[in-house]
Amino acid sequence: MSGEKRYSMRAHITRKMFYTAVLGFLGVFFLAEHQAAAQGNVEAGAKQYKEVQNCKECHGDGGKGDGFILPLLKVKVEMHSWTDKAFMSELTDEYLAEIITKGGEALGKSEVMLQYSDKLNEQQVKDLVAFIRSLAR
Ligand code: HEC
Repeated sequence: MSGEKRYSMRAHITRKMFYTAVLGFLGVFFLAEHQAAAQGNVEAGAKQYKEVQNCKECHGDGGKGDGFILPLLKVKVEMHSWTDKAFMSELTDEYLAEIITKGGEALGKSEVMLQYSDKLNEQQVKDLVAFIRSLAR
């Protein structure tokens, strides 16, 4: 084998390794992106919660269930604090997403909790769940 040939073979292998590394990196990157999307984005959820949907009117700024509108409601409601780890650990992400989309009444809970299926898409619901989950940590 001539020196030149050996050299070009090594270059070939190195290039292959380089592309493999790049592809691997991209793969990890997209996987992480995908997982972030699948899990929901805390900041996006906080924005929906505080600025877009005004969930905080009832649930309070920090999710403690002390929103300013509660005393003004005709019906008495029992709110829960989302900072309560013990309470939150009893609830699944599926339940949180379901009550947000279908509302309280559909799940045998307070009708004061409205359904948001027409206001939020699937990703926005996941973002809200991620935000809610972030409060009990
Ligand atoms: C008008 C008041 C009101 C608003 C606005 C409101 N909720 Fe609720 N929500 C309630 C009440 C009351 C309950 C408790 C239902 C029960 O347990 O009977 C509840 C329950 C929930 C629950 C189940 C966990 C728990 O605390 O019992 C989630 C999750 C939730 N709301 C999310 C949201 C999100 C997200 C928004 C905004 C998109 C929102 N809520 C807006 C009143 C409200």
